[in-house]
Amino acid sequence: MSDEVVLESQPNWLGLTGSRVLVAGAGGIGSACAKAFVDAGAKVALVDLDPERLEVASKELGPDALTITADLSTGSGAREAVARVEVALDGIDVLVHAVGINLRKPVLDFTDDEWTRIQKINLDSAFYLAQAAGRSMIERRFGRIILLSSVSGLLAHPDHAPYAASKGAINQMMRVMAREWAPYGVTVNAIAPGYIETDLTQDYLSKGDNRAKLEKMVPAGRLGTTWELTGPALFLASRHASFITGHVLYVDGGRTLV
Ligand SMILES: NC(=O)c1ccc[n+]([C@@H]2O[C@H](COP(=O)([O-])OP(=O)(O)OC[C@H]3O[C@@H](n4cnc5c(N)ncnc54)[C@H](O)[C@@H]3O)[C@@H](O)[C@H]2O)c1
Repeated sequence: MSDEVVLESQPNWLGLTGSRVLVAGAGGIGSACAKAFVDAGAKVALVDLDPERLEVASKELGPDALTITADLSTGSGAREAVARVEVALDGIDVLVHAVGINLRKPVLDFTDDEWTRIQKINLDSAFYLAQAAGRSMIERRFGRIILLSSVSGLLAHPDHAPYAASKGAINQMMRVMAREWAPYGVTVNAIAPGYIETDLTQDYLSKGDNRAKLEKMVPAGRLGTTWELTGPALFLASRHASFITGHVLYVDGGRTLV
């Protein structure tokens, strides 16, 4: 049975109709997730630093989705964005954090600024957003937080030191939040994708035999699509995942098995 048929016959099977969802990051993965939540009947706000990406995404999402431009790597930027979304949607039930950058170089070549920039965008933004959204979720005794980690948070990919550090840190931060907030009905989980084709990976994949080499490392024999992350995000946000917290869900075609 196709996904469309299931959705048609049981329109609210995920229990997300009317859910208020903040998706941070309007890139490949964030936009795909935002669209999936809209299709599931949720009210969606999409936040990103780049107004052009927001404009492209908003055409896909339709007129009801809210878009906000904000620098989420600062505490004030993230808190202000959360506050604006809470007013506009009358609260936040689900936060998806899909913000991130990567820079590939050997450890010895990174500058102080490069290291700091990657931590601020990848890790600090996740902390500030989850802290701000989590605060009001705790008050309302309900919330679902989903952070985009990576297989790099577990494996030791060369040339990935700051990125890998930020993703390993997201996993640990997520576990502590999950433990602290479980008594209040707030679940906190991470999705850790393998290689997915988006702006984050496009340049690297288009060079030399990078794509073929990466595909060989994946037992499924291919890279993933943004669509393949939407199901896991919807599931973790749904009523079916109410007792799941503190997990890193690898969505990687088996990459972390080898
Ligand atoms: N694409 C992959 O292969 C892959 C694999 C594993 C994990 N991830 C993770 O998934 C998440 C989304 O990645 P993607 O592939 O969609 O990347 P992407 O480059 O398509 O999107 C990332 C988005 O983050 C936004 N952003 C950057 N700095 C920001 C800031 N300071 N404030 C607000 N927004 C900012 C960018 O404008 C961009 O729209 C990231 O956390 C990434 O690390 C991606």
